Amino acid sequence: MITAQELRETYLSFFEAQGHKRISSASLIPENDPTVLFTTAGMHPLVPYLLGELHPQGRRLTSVQKCVRTGDIDEVGDDTHLTFFEMLGNWSLQDYFKQEAIEWSFLFLTRELGISIDRLAVSVFAGDENAPFDEEAYRLWLHQGISEKRIAKLGKKDNWWGPAGQTGPCGPDTEMFYWVSDEPAPEVFDPKDRRWVEIWNDVFMQYNKREDGTFEKLEKPNVDTGMGLERTLAVLNGKQSVFDTELFEPIFQKLHLHSDAIQRPRYGRIIVDHVRAAVMIIADGMIPSNKDQGYVLRRLLRRALRTYKQVAGDPAFFVSIAESAVETLRESYPALLQQKTTILEEINKEQERFSQSLEKGEREVLKRWERNKSISGVDAFNLYQTYGFPLELTEEIAREYGQEIDHDSFAAEFKKHQELSRVGSGQKFAGGLADTSEATVKLHTATHMLHQALRSILGSHVEQKGSNITPERLRFDFSHPEKMTQEQVQAVEALVNENIKKDLSVQFQLLTLAEAKARGAIGLFEDKYATLGDKIKVYFIGDEATGEYYSKEVCGGPHVERTGLLGRFKILKEEAVAGGVRRIKANLE
Ligand code: ALA
Repeated sequence: MITAQELRETYLSFFEAQGHKRISSASLIPENDPTVLFTTAGMHPLVPYLLGELHPQGRRLTSVQKCVRTGDIDEVGDDTHLTFFEMLGNWSLQDYFKQEAIEWSFLFLTRELGISIDRLAVSVFAGDENAPFDEEAYRLWLHQGISEKRIAKLGKKDNWWGPAGQTGPCGPDTEMFYWVSDEPAPEVFDPKDRRWVEIWNDVFMQYNKREDGTFEKLEKPNVDTGMGLERTLAVLNGKQSVFDTELFEPIFQKLHLHSDAIQRPRYGRIIVDHVRAAVMIIADGMIPSNKDQGYVLRRLLRRALRTYKQVAGDPAFFVSIAESAVETLRESYPALLQQKTTILEEINKEQERFSQSLEKGEREVLKRWERNKSISGVDAFNLYQTYGFPLELTEEIAREYGQEIDHDSFAAEFKKHQELSRVGSGQKFAGGLADTSEATVKLHTATHMLHQALRSILGSHVEQKGSNITPERLRFDFSHPEKMTQEQVQAVEALVNENIKKDLSVQFQLLTLAEAKARGAIGLFEDKYATLGDKIKVYFIGDEATGEYYSKEVCGGPHVERTGLLGRFKILKEEAVAGGVRRIKANLE
């Protein structure tokens, strides 16, 4: 067994012994980077130094950086995804390069962590039109004794990292995988086999991406590495998931004391993950709000609260989960001790606000009960439609009165409503998609990416209100209460371009409405698209191999096959069309 603290310390001391200076974790809220809401990797705070500025601590650095990634929020609950996590990293700022990086990575894994070479495999960049096969990395791994059958050569999608924004340092990377199964590891490395878990990434920042999209070779390249603390801890200790490590155990113990989350492990994981992230975000100075980081924080807390309500009783106990999270995180972040009262107060306040809005819905349920001595499926639908009161909560109250909600009439009402609005909006969505020229198909895919980017940057209150595409431009109307700031417009544009550059795959699956919702797909469910029971088309933009998707949206298509085909996305205009509805016009260059 290795503890989290031992793993952090072993990592930092190993790199200190190789001449690195320890730097402390930067804030989760990036200081000078409007393109991201949160610090998502150890390299963010180092961007100016990766671009050539001199770092006061020298050219070799190492850290444990706290990170928040909300892109995968719907994945939380599986074995490996977290919104808050810690990244172990080491950097060469125009100093050593591939040889030392690979040698030290190998030494650290095999000698310091005692991992047998039989359980290791790696991937290297296969090369494409922008940059050649990373033969040097390949040879260096062979030299360390990794068999050629355990070295996969993969494309940009897997073995390229950065730049963090539109332009800047980036390059091929090499990833290290650990065989987690008790069965002997196969001789040949298959990166699609989920039993190979990626634990570390060495990025060789050899190129500078320029505004015109070309790559110039850097005179003096950098090394940027990142190892997931929780994942590595889990695999080293033979744990099935990150949630089974000591970092989470005390919080689960607390949760299980006053809930039946143990029967519903996914619910428990969502609560514990989101509470940890919320604690750390508040500790870095944010409070729940309707904007930017505050909105993400609110969303995390409310999702945790709703889930908590489903497995536990009184939400007033929710704060004790947060208290337990503070206690477990305090070992590595001692400042949490002074901040504890404020953090718990903020969480309590948000809990009360959220409970109040749920209460409003609840009062309506009870009024209906008084009137009719029953709650019909139609009532349940109306409550959902008018107050956003979730069906499962209406069901809960009905059950207290010994009644089950009739799902069939709920579904029938749902369908009726869809048909009504389909008739009403038939015209609104005509055009655009009927035209399948190459330019409009591209703009259509770009529309999905814009929709997702708006939700990532502004929050999940953003919903499509209309869309119109001509070969020259796209027009997208969406719900948002205020004018976007210049920074927000830039951040949305940057996020779309970042995902275009990742050359993500675009494909669809046929799912039922319920499946689509369960997978977290967004889109005009209630509007244009069919019908409970029927299959609808859901487009997934992302990484097929890992199942990590950037955008999931109900849509008839057609779309391009890869985002890399889109070119550069540009927002031309952001303006109001109606109260609470904004409009963006954009094109592809
Ligand atoms: N910055 C690199 C990553 O996040 C190491 O994977």
